[in-house]
Amino acid sequence: MPDHDSIYKQEALQYHELIACQPNLKEVIEGIRPNGGLDIVDMGAGTGRLTALLAPEAGTIVALDASEAMLHVTANRLREAGLTNWTIQVADHRQLPLPDQSADLIVSGWSISYLTNTDVTDWANNLDKIISEIKRVLRPGGTVIIFETLGTGHESPSAPDFLRPYYAKLVETYGFSHRWIRTDYSFDDVQQAERLARFFFGDELAARVVEQQLVRLPECAGVWWLQL
Ligand SMILES: C[S@@+](CC[C@H](N)C(=O)[O-])C[C@H]1O[C@@H](n2cnc3c(N)ncnc32)[C@H](O)[C@@H]1O
Repeated sequence: MPDHDSIYKQEALQYHELIACQPNLKEVIEGIRPNGGLDIVDMGAGTGRLTALLAPEAGTIVALDASEAMLHVTANRLREAGLTNWTIQVADHRQLPLPDQSADLIVSGWSISYLTNTDVTDWANNLDKIISEIKRVLRPGGTVIIFETLGTGHESPSAPDFLRPYYAKLVETYGFSHRWIRTDYSFDDVQQAERLARFFFGDELAARVVEQQLVRLPECAGVWWLQL
């Protein structure tokens, strides 16, 4: 499996090429919390998949991430779009550099899981800290929406074992609602599919892409949300 930490430090643009092949999630987010003048925080914003989608209609948006390189891509995208209502800041999910009750909507895509999967010794404590931080920063009536993987290469949800306890806690301990969606990759051709699958998911999935000529690579994602 490729080293995601070094990808986020050194290969932000290739990561962005990969996720640019996935569907736009605006309708999913707006189905849960309609945007329009909201103060928004994107935790683990990466190259700005969710930030760039929400910024045009947001009041303000803060993109936070552990990787400065990823945030640079986000900043360039927002600048190119002519937007000025945004800030970026390097931050860890367990300590958000934001005042109490300063956001209406917090989104986080495919990111919290790096601290809350069962391969991390302190995963349950990390999750507790992260949920406390989210609740501290949200205003009363605020909403948090979390996206995480339910399996790349799968046509129906298949949560990896090391993420199941985290997903269960979101619903059973913290009271989140949940649904799942398809987030398939639509590549230009098999060459691009193989290159990007190998880059982020590793040799096994890349081999399957070639064997089955998967220009469209299926993927499922979970969406969890909570309104305060
Ligand atoms: C798979 S990418 C997701 C990026 C973006 N949200 C998206 O949907 O494409 C995961 C991101 O989480 C960030 N990240 C990982 N651990 C983090 C932490 N402890 N605190 C903040 N960001 C973190 C990484 O730097 C990376 O940009």
